[in-house]
Order: sequence, then C-alpha cells, then structure tokens
Amino acid sequence: MIPQTFIDELLNRVDIVDVIEKFVPLKRSGANLSACCPFHEEKTPSFTVSQQKQFYHCFGCGAHGSAISFLMEYQGLGFIDAIENLAARVGIEVPRDQRNDRAEKQKDFKDYFLTNSRAASHYKRQLKDAPNAISYLKGRGIDGNVAAKFLVGYASDDWQGLNEEFNDYDESQSLLDVGLINDKDGRRYDRFRGRIIFPIRDFRGRVIAFGGRVIDKGEPKYLNSPETPLFHKGKEVYGFWESRNTIRQVGRILVVEGYMDVVALHQSGITYAVATLGTAVTESQVSRLLKQSSDLIFCFDGDSAGRKAAFRALESSLSQIEDGGKISFLFLPDGEDPDSFVRIHGREVFEENILAATPMSDVLINELTRQSGDLDSVEAKSKLASLFKPLVTQVKAPMMRKLLTERVLGLTGLSSGDLGLEDELKTSKSFRRSSGTVGEYTAPSRATSAPSVLQHLLEIIIVFPSVMRDDDGKYLDELRPNLENVFSPSQFDVLAEILGLVGAGLKQLQIVARVKGTIFEVPVVRAVELANIRYQEDKVEIESVKTEYEQAWEQLNRLSRLNLQKELLSKTSLSSLSEEDKARYRSLMGPITDQKAD
Ligand code: UTP
Ligand code: MN
Repeated sequence: MIPQTFIDELLNRVDIVDVIEKFVPLKRSGANLSACCPFHEEKTPSFTVSQQKQFYHCFGCGAHGSAISFLMEYQGLGFIDAIENLAARVGIEVPRDQRNDRAEKQKDFKDYFLTNSRAASHYKRQLKDAPNAISYLKGRGIDGNVAAKFLVGYASDDWQGLNEEFNDYDESQSLLDVGLINDKDGRRYDRFRGRIIFPIRDFRGRVIAFGGRVIDKGEPKYLNSPETPLFHKGKEVYGFWESRNTIRQVGRILVVEGYMDVVALHQSGITYAVATLGTAVTESQVSRLLKQSSDLIFCFDGDSAGRKAAFRALESSLSQIEDGGKISFLFLPDGEDPDSFVRIHGREVFEENILAATPMSDVLINELTRQSGDLDSVEAKSKLASLFKPLVTQVKAPMMRKLLTERVLGLTGLSSGDLGLEDELKTSKSFRRSSGTVGEYTAPSRATSAPSVLQHLLEIIIVFPSVMRDDDGKYLDELRPNLENVFSPSQFDVLAEILGLVGAGLKQLQIVARVKGTIFEVPVVRAVELANIRYQEDKVEIESVKTEYEQAWEQLNRLSRLNLQKELLSKTSLSSLSEEDKARYRSLMGPITDQKAD
C-alpha cells in the first residue's frame, strides 16, 4: 500500500500537461488544452486537459482522470507502476506502507478467483436454459464445443440472478470487489443481466473478469468488468489461455480486437488468436505477448480507423520489439472483421493472408510516407524525417533501429547527422564492418522507390495495365528462382496472378472483382490503395510510369544476378537470415549494384 498522503503530494508536484503532452499533442483552447482523444477514434478534438484542476476529460467517450489514471489507461500500467513512473519523473522515492501484509492480500485474491470461477460456472449453467442465447450463438456459427472451451455462458435478465449461486449475496465483499455486483444505497444488483457472458482468463487460466454481449441490439453492445484488483484492461488479452497450446506449436500469435473475433477464429480452426478487447494495444500487452512468441500478427480492419489503430499498435511495439522478433500487420478489406472474414473465406485464405502480412517496418515507413506526401519535394522529405525521429528513438533493438534509420536516410537523402542521430551512424558503420555480409553501403542521394520491388511492380500494373509488356509473366518466372530467398512466395504469386489477368485484358475493377474471396484479395486491394496514394491520379504521365515500370524490372534483374553471385561467393545462405535482415538486404542491393555491377 502506498499512503494516500504521498499520492496527493505526488499529484501536487507533477503537471498533468507535461505527462500527457509526451504522448498526445495538446493545443491550447481557452483555459484548457485539447486534442483528439487518444482513447477513442475521432476527427474533431473532444479530449480536454485542465492544467488548473489537473485532470483530463473526454466529452466523446467519457475518459476522465488524473495523471495517474492517464498513464494507467494509455500505457497499460498498473496503479503502482504508474505512481513509480511519475515519482521517477519528479525525482522522489515511493514510500511503502509496511502494514500491507502479503498473506492477507493472497487470501483476498484466492477469494476473488473462487468467486469468479463460481460465477462463470453459474453463467454456463444458465446458458443451457436460455434457448434465445443458444440460438444466437448458433446463428453466429459457434458450436457447443467451442462455447465450452471459452466457458461461454449467459446471465439471465434478473436483477439478482447471482443470488442463486451465492447465498451470501447480500454480504459478500468479494462479489463487490470483482465487479460482479453493484451496490446502490445498500441495494445490491447484478452487473451482467440478459447478456451472453465471455469469461476472461489470465495467462494461468484463472477467470479474472467478464465481458457480456447483448443479444442482438442494445447499448452498450459489450459490457466489461470494471478495473478490479484482478483485472487491468490495458494489460490483459482475451483468449491466451485457450490458445496457448497452438501458440507453442505454431510459434505465432494472431492479435485481433474482439471477443467474437477470437471465438469465431477458433471455431474455424485458427486456434492461436487472442484479442485486446477494444482498447488500443498497449506496450504492456505487446510485451506480454512477445514473451510467449516472437512472431505477432496484428489484424485490423482495412478502413481508416483500422489504419489508425494499427499505427497505435505499432507505436506500442516500437519499444518492445527485439532483434530477431517479427511483428506484422494484416489489413482486412473495408467493412470486414476477422469474424466475418473467416466465416466467408475460411481458414485457408485467412492463413494465406497471415503469411503475407505486412512487416512492421513497412507499415511504419508506408504510413509516414503517406503522411509526408510526395517525396520528390524537400518539404515532404523533411516532414518524413521529423515524423520518423521521435519514433525510431523508442526502438531499443539495435539492429532494427539501424535498419529503420537507413531506410529513412535512403528515402530522404539525409545523413544520420542531419537527422540528429549521429550516434546511429557511428554504431551503424561499425556494425556493417563487423557483420561483413553486406559490404560498404552509401545511402543513395535520391529517394529509393518502394519497400519491395515486387510490391512496386504490383502497384503499377494494377493501376496502369497498359505499361505491361508481352513477356513480363515469363520474365518473372525466370527471375524467381534466384530471388526466392529475398521475397516471399506469396509476393511472387500475387504478382504472377495479376500479370496473368492483365495479360488476359482485364482492367483494374475487373481484377479487383476477380480476386475477391481469394488469397489475392487483400494484397490487391492494398496495392490499389497504395498506388492511389503514390500516383495522385490525373497528375501522372503514362510515359514516366512506363519508365518507372521498366526500371523496376531492371532492378529486379540486377537483384537476381547479384543474388546469384552472392549465393556463390558466400557460404551463408540467405535463407538463414531473419525477415528484417532480408529487408535490409533488399534495401541495400540497389545501390551496391549501381556501384559494382555496372
Ligand atoms: P466491435 O464493435 O468490433 O465488436 O468491438 P465485435 O467484436 O465485432 O462484436 P460483434 O461481432 O458485433 O459481436 C470490438 C471489441 O471492443 C470491445 C469488445 O471487447 C469488442 O469485442 N467493445 C466494443 C466494448 O468493450 N464495448 C462495446 O460497447 C463495444
Ligand atoms: Mn464483429
């Protein structure tokens, strides 16, 4: 226990504006400061911070609290961690109240777990007697086995339904503490009524909280347990316990947003899916998941809210990723969520898309490039550099940090000194020399084209089919064997497929229609989006696109030749490199060939 007097003192010393400003850009408006709310999606600012009262409040979603609660919510910290974080900022030490007896606390926790577990069993029994709930679940494709695996239950539409299970309903402190009941002026009543119940388990399988969904329509759609001694929403993930065996087998974790997404994915055989329960992904969630698997795939909707949520997840990942780890992003077509997508297309298509998910590094660079605009201009380059700098400094993994930096140097033509990352350059050089696998590298002075040549070709060909030459499909087949270690099979497959369709005379809209429901849908839709950003439509001259297209093939050809040489020269096979090393290899190849092969 931390004494309340200390907490008051701490809140006196820190300024909430400094705390929040580190994460959210605040603008002054009248007596307060405001911003777009970091806790929900919005276009106009309804999040306000009062310096005078030292609290924040969002008029949109109701988020509200002090500097302590901000850190808890935003970073997913526990109460104690948030206090320690703030104390460290102002340089004071947190006193501990020694009266807190560990054994006492343990006993409380035992009671809490037992209470939750009894409640979960109660809800599960009630489901058997609730034909409307059963038929709702059936209607959403969930069978009895999967429902049982997730302990899915039903809370009847009674004010004191839990009375049936707990005969100390009116006295129990545990029921209150774990948030199963509320107390209003001495009258107690159930929190969950008339809802399908999804118990949330911790990493050891114990029930720590509940989520309840209305059947069909009603507000709120999902009601969750409040923050309790057992449950800190920003730290937990739903479905880990149910996924743990598969996660160990397949070595990866698919991270989605909702309860029903997880359950539906398990129903269709993708049994390594977990959810963040509708909150933005926190650092502490990423850190916990990375301890279980070094391969995380975040899955989001393809719309702009999804892209924003993905970027938040990415920001939470920057400080957590380790060299050799892999975090990637899968964007679903607009209007789909993982539940609907897997139900329509099935497990196989979903898993193909997982394998083709976009690496974190590409998402970062793509998003910053998108925000910066046309990289031919000085302004855009400088914008890119300034957006990039505060992000890359969060990356602790040394190789990842260097590789990302090099990509931005390549895109802007800046040196690391210009970027204010002088240290990067020094360490980066010695790293290169000692690694010895890639040779000396000079950052190209012009913007390099795309994260991947294949991706670039795909984007061009979909939007400008007329630039295709007769034998491009065959040419790709020829180059492919020498490039298989650089690009993934799915990247070749989608380009080959689209070259085929364009060769058969199909235009953009027909292509998009043709690939709908196949494994090519997601990469194709993504390519169209990126191409629309890259070529701001009518401003483009077809001749220059044609040149770009031919140069990209030329680059592919050079890559293939060089790769062949490398394979022969070095005993280290490319296949032993990690994904990020491959990306590095790719980004280095162009300039090296320019200097050596020509
Ligand atoms: P979604 O609105 O995407 O719900 O919210 P869903 O999972 O697709 O739900 P279905 O398919 O309509 O049943 C994603 C997650 O956000 C949280 C829940 O965890 C939900 O699973 N959420 C959403 C809430 O906590 N409360 C809400 O009112 C809505
Ligand atoms: Mn849904």
